[in-house]
Amino acid sequence: MDNSNVFVFDHPLIQHKVSILRDKNTSTKEFRELVSEIAMLMAYEATRDLPLEQVEIETPVAIAKTNVIAGKKLAVVPILRAGLGMVDGLEALIPNVRVGHIGLYRDPKTLKPVEYYCKLPEDIAERDVIVLDPMLATGGSASAAISFLKERGIKSIKFMCLIAAPCGIEKLTTDHPDVKIYCAAKDEKLNDHAYIVPGLGDAGDRLFGTK
Ligand code: PRP
Ligand code: URA
Repeated sequence: MDNSNVFVFDHPLIQHKVSILRDKNTSTKEFRELVSEIAMLMAYEATRDLPLEQVEIETPVAIAKTNVIAGKKLAVVPILRAGLGMVDGLEALIPNVRVGHIGLYRDPKTLKPVEYYCKLPEDIAERDVIVLDPMLATGGSASAAISFLKERGIKSIKFMCLIAAPCGIEKLTTDHPDVKIYCAAKDEKLNDHAYIVPGLGDAGDRLFGTK
């Protein structure tokens, strides 16, 4: 597997927060806050290659030649449900970011992704898109969501997750070699129900308190 497109975060703050996230005793409130905070910290790195342009700003002292982000258009697309938990972390850093939504769930029998909702910004094809989902397990959901976005003409896509399984990374890098993957932690394996081990359980249920 060529891993040059896969970024696993080793920052101590991220590792610490992921550890609390994994704890089965972490409350729904704390889980939500942590998902959002980790997503914000990751966004800092995932936006490192945004293009800059030089402008002149008048400080109280002199004219400064300084950099601002060039008019590059960004959008984030959370995969429903659990990706929703990462959106406000991105919005905290990029207040004007546009948000599209894709609804996919994993059929518990076939484990294949089933699409049930899609609403994207009208000009999505002109934007750089970051797809958000806390869990990359088999990779089926992320790969399907990204294929779907490519069908809409989107050319620049990154994928950001919190926990990734090796087989999910392999599937995504094989299906979409052009997509950079950012994950806060890479775990060991999947269990027989395609849950990530050790993982953090069902991200959607823990975020929304549905179980
Ligand atoms: C979870 C998770 C991903 C998917 C990952 O969603 O949020 O979307 O599973 O698994 P995969 O890599 O094997 O496709 P789930 O299908 O449980 O739906 P939910 O967010 O509505 O709980
Ligand atoms: N989806 C989750 O929410 N958790 C996993 O471990 C795998 C898929």
